[in-house]
Amino acid sequence: MSFLSETLARVKPSPTIAVSNLAAELKAAGRDVIGLSAGEPDFDTPEHIRAAGIAAINEGHTRYTAVDGIPDLKAAICAKFKRDNGLDYTPKQVTVGTGGKQVLYNALMATLNKEDEVIIPAPYWVSYPDMVLLAGGTPVFIEAQLENDFKITPDQLEAAITRNTKWFLFNSPSNPTGAGYSRDELKALTDVLLRHPHVWVLSDDMYEHLAYDGFRFCTPAEVEPQLYDRTLTVNGVSKAYAMTGWRIGYAAGPEPLIAAIRKVQSQSTSNPCSVSQKAAVAALNGPQDFLAPNNEMFVRRRNLVVDMLSAIEGITCPVPDGAFYVYPSIAGLIGKKTPEGVEISSDEVFATELLNDCGVAVVFGAAFGLSPNFRISYATSDELLQEACSRIQAFCAKLS
Ligand SMILES: Cc1ncc(COP(=O)(O)O)c(C=O)c1O
Repeated sequence: MSFLSETLARVKPSPTIAVSNLAAELKAAGRDVIGLSAGEPDFDTPEHIRAAGIAAINEGHTRYTAVDGIPDLKAAICAKFKRDNGLDYTPKQVTVGTGGKQVLYNALMATLNKEDEVIIPAPYWVSYPDMVLLAGGTPVFIEAQLENDFKITPDQLEAAITRNTKWFLFNSPSNPTGAGYSRDELKALTDVLLRHPHVWVLSDDMYEHLAYDGFRFCTPAEVEPQLYDRTLTVNGVSKAYAMTGWRIGYAAGPEPLIAAIRKVQSQSTSNPCSVSQKAAVAALNGPQDFLAPNNEMFVRRRNLVVDMLSAIEGITCPVPDGAFYVYPSIAGLIGKKTPEGVEISSDEVFATELLNDCGVAVVFGAAFGLSPNFRISYATSDELLQEACSRIQAFCAKLS
């Protein structure tokens, strides 16, 4: 019998972290590698947020805190939901965790039983299925096709719901595609959910502020107020505020669910980092004016990458509405061979050959549940993106 748990045997380590680690190892060994796999901004946490963290240390905020968040952070989160989403929550309806990742994990741990199913549109953020499996549930996938801009249809959602469906896990703008659902598209999905009162909504709004070309972000509890009592709205400071290392995420929803999440957290991490919570208060309550120029920069980078990849025969690269990823299809390259005779039989082979041949690290589509594609994170400098895309162009030109 294995020493390790059977539950752990059901899951795999994060493929995006694995690719990032491999790229870092190759770099350390002297290879010229451009890593486009990490999902984090390349700039520093804004100065006023860093200052709040330093002040928190100097003022002695260095002890355990309330399990699911300090009162001033919960107040800032309630104000944020009101300001940005028109949603009313009290502090008792709010939980804070060590990143959005832990909040999602806590919610699944707190709610899933053996027979429970969680509907996940694919392509999905790599962690969703494995978190569901770790919590003892079963992920059920709906494939969102490139032809439908990587968005699922109401009919697909309707067909995926069973007696055992517990959650519908929704993410817009999406990691890995950057696709965003318009209010009408989301309303069509929430209309389906109204017909199935046993299904709850887990909305991952991590990329709310990274929305481009006039795309208007919206979230299920706001679009369909009748779902308010069965929606957990998850968000965080990692992406928009360049705070990935501080590890603060949060969620709001019905009080009994928040209490259950608190119970899980009280027996695992006790509380999110005291210093980071103070910094997150500064992020949410402070000036938001740096978001717009950051987004202009992301749009420029997105356009650069989309243009350069679209110029490659065999690659189709849709233009994303938000986040900082593109998810091009390599359907037109499948079956071709490298000069060394390696057949590009899958997106995994493509990503491996790309890394070996020209030192560009991307994540293969199978990791996100939709092939043959790959994901590029364009949260890096224009120069590196330009160089990386030139290398991808040269690599693809050699395939025959
Ligand atoms: C879709 C999505 N949700 C949640 C997270 C978790 O973010 P964090 O734990 O840093 O708050 C990420 C991070 O990559 C993400 O892409």
